[in-house]
Amino acid sequence: MEEKPKSPHILIFPLPCQSHVNSMLKLAEIFGLAGLKVTFLNSKHNHERLIRYTDIHDRFLQYSEFQFKTISDGLPADHPRAGDRLMEIFDSLSLNTRPLLKQMLIDTSPPVSCIIGDACMEFVVDVATELEIPVIHFRAISACSFWAYFSIPEMIQAGELPMKAYDEDMDRLITKVPGMETFLRFRDLPSFCRVSDVTDRDLQVLKNVTQQSPRTHALILNTFEDLEEPILSHIRTKCPKVYTIGPLHLQLKTRLASNVISSSSQKSLNSLWEVDRSCIEWLGKQPVRSVLYVSFGSITLLKREQLIEFWHGLVDSKQRFLWVIRPDSVIGEGDAPAELVEGTKERGHLVSWVPQEEVLAHQAVAGFLTHSGWNSTLESIVAGVPMICWPYFADQQINSRFVSEVWNLGLDMKDVCDRNVVEKMVNDLMVERKEEFMRAADRMATMARTTANEGGPSYCNLDRLIDDIKMMSS
Ligand code: UDX
Repeated sequence: MEEKPKSPHILIFPLPCQSHVNSMLKLAEIFGLAGLKVTFLNSKHNHERLIRYTDIHDRFLQYSEFQFKTISDGLPADHPRAGDRLMEIFDSLSLNTRPLLKQMLIDTSPPVSCIIGDACMEFVVDVATELEIPVIHFRAISACSFWAYFSIPEMIQAGELPMKAYDEDMDRLITKVPGMETFLRFRDLPSFCRVSDVTDRDLQVLKNVTQQSPRTHALILNTFEDLEEPILSHIRTKCPKVYTIGPLHLQLKTRLASNVISSSSQKSLNSLWEVDRSCIEWLGKQPVRSVLYVSFGSITLLKREQLIEFWHGLVDSKQRFLWVIRPDSVIGEGDAPAELVEGTKERGHLVSWVPQEEVLAHQAVAGFLTHSGWNSTLESIVAGVPMICWPYFADQQINSRFVSEVWNLGLDMKDVCDRNVVEKMVNDLMVERKEEFMRAADRMATMARTTANEGGPSYCNLDRLIDDIKMMSS
């Protein structure tokens, strides 16, 4: 009798940061829907927060071949795990988590047949190679950001990195990122490139992790061909097998909707904080397309004076706004200063954490002041909401340049935090150029829906990825 092909056992392991967990958990659920055996490996710290703030446990019970496992990130329980401590997270994972991962893979039964590892964790490829387990990289950023990181060696070689003296010309054009020669300025590079010494540790770490991807069986990107095709063709000269499967949150919705057995609520899985749903009731009282939604993601930190500048600009714009001020996101203050809360009553609504996909889809929302994190950018594109981009760090600088210069989906407020600029840009987006941006956003949202719907390119790419993984395991 012909031997039954072994069914794959996939280990999915995200960098223990909110939005990396978000995206890879959505991919894991899609694999669960496809009946694949999946082990989702989350840090103990983040798993406990997901259990506390989402319905993740009940939601995944229905996938008989699905299990959660946890692993220590090696950090103290009270470590803030915020954006400015990213390298401490990387270091702890490499030192403390790496040996635990190796032992877990040795002990796991049935054995893992394929690892989908976060491409930010360099050690995963090394451990997998040692144990002869194939690895597929998942990079939680845009193709344009990935390609800029990948081109760091060429920029160094050509002397375009590091920064010159203190009076660096931030607007000088960068010529060594193929496909971006006509519009990429030094200030648009990932923030880790803003160093005066090429041996800078952050720069080296981001360069090295990105150079690992050609060593893997394939690279998964949460993007879509219509959005980033020109850059994707450059990436494919280095990583031949790239699966574009985004927008992932839309693909998951599409597949859940067509899956009769799934009783999954559409409740957001994005929350490592308690969601305050009062914002939905507040939005319900606002005129259609009248509100600017403001949020800077899960790890951005704001100085108090920056917060005050944004607040004055928003109030002076006379536009309505819904502003997420995440707990502990204000350096030195923790939460929103009291006078802000008081003075905002008239046209604004402050909140600590919202169901963002639901907010962006709300008819009252007409704009998004964002830090240009990749999940937020994709969610805004899917919702057809134009953006004002105020990038904080990492890949956000490139994303904001593409939103304004390449996709015409909004405005780039990079490197500026001034109440007059905030007021002007809010009015440009919400009044002066509203129709122009809305039209472009509608067109891109239609392309995003088409690609994620059954039969669309991203949908078919994900089916091909599943077939590829099954082949790897047989
Ligand atoms: C991090 C990096 O900062 C970002 O640059 C990179 O692209 C991905 O990893 P993060 O800063 O958290 O991501 O931003 P983003 O990618 O936008 O993810 C934030 C997530 O939190 C989104 O999925 C968003 O829906 C969710 N969110 C945000 C909420 O659910 N509620 C909120 O109130 C705010």
